[in-house]
Order: sequence, then structure tokens, then C-alpha cells
Amino acid sequence: MSKYFKIVQDNEPSLRERCRVVENPDDDSIIELVNKMHDYLVASQDPKIKEKYQLKEGVGLAAPQIGENIRALVVYYPIEEDEDGNPTKVVDHRLINPRIISESVKESYLGAGEGCLSVKENHEGYVYRKFKIIVKAFDAVTRKEKIITARGYEAIVLQHELDHLNGVLYYDHINKENPFIRKEDAIRI
Ligand code: CO
Repeated sequence: MSKYFKIVQDNEPSLRERCRVVENPDDDSIIELVNKMHDYLVASQDPKIKEKYQLKEGVGLAAPQIGENIRALVVYYPIEEDEDGNPTKVVDHRLINPRIISESVKESYLGAGEGCLSVKENHEGYVYRKFKIIVKAFDAVTRKEKIITARGYEAIVLQHELDHLNGVLYYDHINKENPFIRKEDAIRI
């Protein structure tokens, strides 16, 4: 049996529920859970572990995707690597009770579309999200409240994971009549 989580798929009703606020975010068991979610993402990006455990590679994971309907999420991906492909700089968020406190009018979207560890089928189309968001959360690393200002790709990943806490999946945002409808002012990433 895999030492890693079984990821809840989008046919499960639990993925469509609104997650509950964590009453005591500084609780050791919550911190441990969030760190395990982080470890999952790191493992999923390691080619050897990924193959051994048949993991789908991900840059973000929300608690409901591992069957815990609480407001917690992680984001992890390298932004700089050395010659051997080892990360030298990473985006690493391990957040409990995250909430958006400010967002831009300007929007952006991934030109290649979005994907999700909980979604097997391909849903083509653009998902428009805010270009910039400011998020307040309890940080599982420092065990303190923190404020994150995210733009572009980082903001998109955070909004995708925040959506999971409200039972929303990325393809809910895709225009049904015209999946590739263009918004003039939105920034393509
Ligand atoms: Co997802």
C-alpha cells in the first residue's frame, strides 16, 4: 500500500462541500497533517518517487482532497533550479484558514488551462482568475498569522486551492458555450 494519500476524486460528494474553519490552527495534529500534505507535493515532483508510488504530479493540494474537510491548503513548486535540477528557490505555502483579503480587478489565466489531482478527465478551456491577491492565513511553518501577496501563476494556484475549500473545481469556471472565450484585458500566463 502506498505510504502516500489516496486523493479524493471529483465524483466524491465530499469534494463539493464547504470546508470548516480550523478552530485551533496551532494544534500539533493539524500542523502535522499540513506538513504531510506538503511532503506529498514534494514527493509527487520527484521523478523516482512519483513513478514508484504512481503519484500524479501536483503544485497544490487542499485538505478536502485527502478526505479532511477543513480549511487548509499547501502550494509547492520550484522557481529556480541548479544544473542538476535541484530546487534552489521554491514557492512554499502551508496555510490554515486562508482567506483573500484583497484582490485585483485585473485577471489572468493559464494559456494551457488548469489541472487538478482530483480530476482525471481533461477539461479544456480558460479559467479566469484574479491577477493579484492578498491572502491572510495561519502559517503552519512559523505557526503565526501571515499575509501573502501573490501575482500571476502563484495567485492562480492559490485561488485554485482556495476554491477547493468551498467545494469549487476549476472546470466550474470554464465557459460552457465557448471554453476558450477571450477576455481582452486578462493576462495570459
Ligand atoms: Co485541484
